[in-house]
Amino acid sequence: MTPSSEEIARAAAVLREGGLVAFPTETVYGLGADGSSPAAVRRLFRVKGRPPDHPVILHAASVNHVPEWVGGMPGYSVSLAGECWPGPLTLVLPRSPRVPDEVTGGLDTVGIRVPAERTAQALLRAFGGAIAAPSANRFGGVSPTTADAVRAALGDDVEVVLDGGPSRLGVESTIVDCSGPAPSILRLGGLSRERIEEIIGHPIPVLDRGEIRAPGTLAKHYSPAARVVVVDDADLARRATEQTSGGARTGVIASKLPDDLPPGAVVLGAPADADDYARSLYQWLRDADVAQLDVVLAVTPAEVGIGAAVADRLRRAAGGGA
Ligand code: TXA
Ligand code: MG
Repeated sequence: MTPSSEEIARAAAVLREGGLVAFPTETVYGLGADGSSPAAVRRLFRVKGRPPDHPVILHAASVNHVPEWVGGMPGYSVSLAGECWPGPLTLVLPRSPRVPDEVTGGLDTVGIRVPAERTAQALLRAFGGAIAAPSANRFGGVSPTTADAVRAALGDDVEVVLDGGPSRLGVESTIVDCSGPAPSILRLGGLSRERIEEIIGHPIPVLDRGEIRAPGTLAKHYSPAARVVVVDDADLARRATEQTSGGARTGVIASKLPDDLPPGAVVLGAPADADDYARSLYQWLRDADVAQLDVVLAVTPAEVGIGAAVADRLRRAAGGGA
């Protein structure tokens, strides 16, 4: 599914006029505004419901556009950009004076990303500038991975929703802090830690939440209305029975479904592998809300590759608990 060139041109015009355009990327859908316009970015924050001191990511059409927005790139960040852009990677770099304070939340760094998805690329090229875009959900909610999910979350508050079909990866970009002498990972995501370490040539720390100010790193984030509980494989049937017999409407996400799962439990998803889990997780959490479930019991995938990002999001959806 690809929007027509007329739709892309109209969306670029809306951005130029200070309006908001939701657009697909290979990770999740973004809610875009002209990244050079303080007024447009302020409107973006109002619609998103995000506190003004939390930064948003700038999206650029290619690495050639990045120097306009940053105050220099350390050598290791040039390697990451060269290997991984366009792709599901956000680099946090010293900002250039061109970046409005509204984008950075007052920080002296800027998060920047070159997405690969073709509609995102077409929009960026038609617009010509950088697009500031958080995920196209209200603050704290589940990131949208379809155009319908964007419309359900934002309704008429967004002028244009470009529909590029379901997101290919389904979890947000990996964020790497490149503002100091050595990189660190601020958020696990669509690009694996293993791949980043291979490019850099040594282990890269993943910073604990609390060490940085970033909404995607709050202990409770990416949350549906249902209570999410992370459970062990071996405990799933028992925990589900406990919940259903207590009267809770219970959903389950696990790649291996036990034979003794109680009949009242709703199977939201049984992912075939970690890629499938990542692609579907947010849809399953939305399904849980549509079905008005009280609780979702989820077994995390093995924490390698994109599985590490899935496990991270489940723990945050669970509010840092269990
Ligand atoms: O995949 C993605 O990254 C999606 C798509 C739309 O590109 N965007 C996304 O944006 O997830 P958002 O706003 O939901 O999350 C962006 C994260 C936040 O945790 C934010 O705090 C962090 O990036 N961030 C942005 N600029 C930063 C900076 N200068 N320093 C530290 N963290 C930053
Ligand atoms: Mg978000």
